[in-house]
Amino acid sequence: MNTRDTLSVNGNGHLQIGGVDVKDLASLYGTPLYVFDKAYIKNICKFFSESIDKHYGGFGKIFYASKAFSCKEIYRIVGDMGLGADVVSTGEMFTALSVGFNSENMCFHGNNKSFADLKYAVENKIGYIVIDSLSEIDDIIKICKELKTRQKVLLRVNPGVEAHTHHYIQTAKPDSKFGFSIENGDADIAAKRLVAADCIDFCGLHCHIGSQIFEKTSFGIAVDKMTDYYKKITDVYHANLSVLNLGGGFGIYYADGDPKFTPEDYADYVKTVCERLNESVYKKGIKKPYLILEPGRSIVGEAGITLYTVGRIKKISGLKNYLSIDGGMFENPRFALYQAKYSVVAAERLQDKPQIKYTIAGKCCESGDIIAEDVFLPEMREGELVAVLSTGAYNYSMASNYNRNFIPPVVMVENGKSYLCVKKQDFNDIVRNDI
Ligand code: LLP
Repeated sequence: MNTRDTLSVNGNGHLQIGGVDVKDLASLYGTPLYVFDKAYIKNICKFFSESIDKHYGGFGKIFYASKAFSCKEIYRIVGDMGLGADVVSTGEMFTALSVGFNSENMCFHGNNKSFADLKYAVENKIGYIVIDSLSEIDDIIKICKELKTRQKVLLRVNPGVEAHTHHYIQTAKPDSKFGFSIENGDADIAAKRLVAADCIDFCGLHCHIGSQIFEKTSFGIAVDKMTDYYKKITDVYHANLSVLNLGGGFGIYYADGDPKFTPEDYADYVKTVCERLNESVYKKGIKKPYLILEPGRSIVGEAGITLYTVGRIKKISGLKNYLSIDGGMFENPRFALYQAKYSVVAAERLQDKPQIKYTIAGKCCESGDIIAEDVFLPEMREGELVAVLSTGAYNYSMASNYNRNFIPPVVMVENGKSYLCVKKQDFNDIVRNDI
């Protein structure tokens, strides 16, 4: 079981999150239920930002990667904490803008932004568009001319750093669908185009070396490669750069075998990046760039849990014990997609010894609909609660209505109180767009 502060066990042996008994949450809001500890999120935001202040003279900002968990309330929370946001669709942009998020503090990413997407971003004065293909440069010029405005951009490059992570979430290899490779000269072609482009302010470079990364050295190498390239673009192509965005990717604890990081550890990641950057800037004689980092998973991942009610239990003698829950791959597709591991607990009986090995299965009509394999729990009964931990990142945001299931509601807890921030879907939502 995860030892972080947000989770505790009360006198009844029940799991508590943010000081609230999960049994009360399940009675109040039903299951399946996504629950987030707001205090945890705010605390991580604070540690990240303070680390930039302390180790980089405050000359930078954390842009929360909102693909990890996007809804109105999270933009309110991170906005209030002084963070910017990384957005990857007009949907994310719209959600953030709808709660008054400062558009200047947004980076718009994506390998296939359409003309309409780009126009929406320019019209809404999004801080930076991150260039990911040559033809989008032409589109932005056209849009800016039409709207008689200018747009700030960053160029996404691949520094060729291979971080240790699942291969689907490695993004900076030379053959990645994202960005331009430095190694094969593609980045130079894009940079030259940007320097010469009308109406575009070519402000800086961006990279993202992957996700769920625990090795600080990967970020250090990325800093070295990115500052080398930053210098080249400045010296050779006379680009007037001022921003370096090094993406996100800090890992979190899911299950046994993962390191357990505290907010102080995350602050230390930022410190490593800042110190290496200060050093590189000094050595290479570059004007100190404004630093942007885009953590997503590390801000919301461990802040979230999902509550389920146990349904049918099927014991296949000598083979497997299936424990079916009222959720599944429609609200957590990460096992199906990445064979992701999770910690699962008997949320109402934490004092009981885990002694039976279960496969936690979802309710979708598909054998691959598994939430976790080889989980040890006490002998479970129908109707009891189980909690899956560290589900705050890329669960709600990747949920679907597969099998016409409802996407569960989202609840925030803070200091013993809870409130709803995304309502439960109902039959009307399921047929809303059907004709
Ligand atoms: N910046 C960029 C440009 C990114 O592409 C990503 C993640 C991030 C920041 C945030 O990375 P984080 O700090 O969250 O690791 N669905 C997958 C993860 C995909 C990550 C995609 N990009 C999963 O469930 O593991």
